[in-house]
Amino acid sequence: MAEFDLMISAEEIAQKVDEVAKQISSDYEGESVVVVGVLTGAFIFTADLARALTVPVETVDFLQVSSYEGDKSTGNFIFKKDISTDISGKNVLIVEDIIDTGRTLKKLREMLLMRNPKSIKICTAFDKPSRRVNDLVPDYNCFTIPDEFIVGYGLDYDGKYRQFKDVKIVRIKDEQ
Ligand code: IMP
Ligand code: MG
Repeated sequence: MAEFDLMISAEEIAQKVDEVAKQISSDYEGESVVVVGVLTGAFIFTADLARALTVPVETVDFLQVSSYEGDKSTGNFIFKKDISTDISGKNVLIVEDIIDTGRTLKKLREMLLMRNPKSIKICTAFDKPSRRVNDLVPDYNCFTIPDEFIVGYGLDYDGKYRQFKDVKIVRIKDEQ
């Protein structure tokens, strides 16, 4: 059985995404950008952010990595799907749902840097800095949150609850 507590409403998210998109658009002024969403969690945020950008978007592409089972980090990094865009000489904006330990993004950034992009920046919807095991800092972050497991706005618990419009803290109760 799962219990939920509202953390951030859909309205608050929409407002913040627009704010961050404005900041990104102003920082990239005169440049174009390749938006790379990290599946599956960032599918909603990527769609919202890309549509709110006013700077030219060359393309929106997705990749998928996996390092999680349930809500515990395994430390395993599995590359499941690559982008089909050639990013050499391009400004790449990685769009992630949430940064926890920072392992996924650190590894991902290293891998994409080997393809000689002009620049790489990271934009995350949510950040849990208290959980970080390395020096990874996102260039853009919508919400800094405490060490709670959240679902909704694309984020899941074992594949579930991604479709929630609001972001909620999930607590799983064992059935006795
Ligand atoms: P990291 O490598 O520990 O930073 O892992 C980040 C990934 O873990 C995210 O892309 C999510 O898929 C997952 N994750 C971390 N915290 C949460 C959470 O609170 N809810 C849902 N997924 C999470
Ligand atoms: Mg993810």
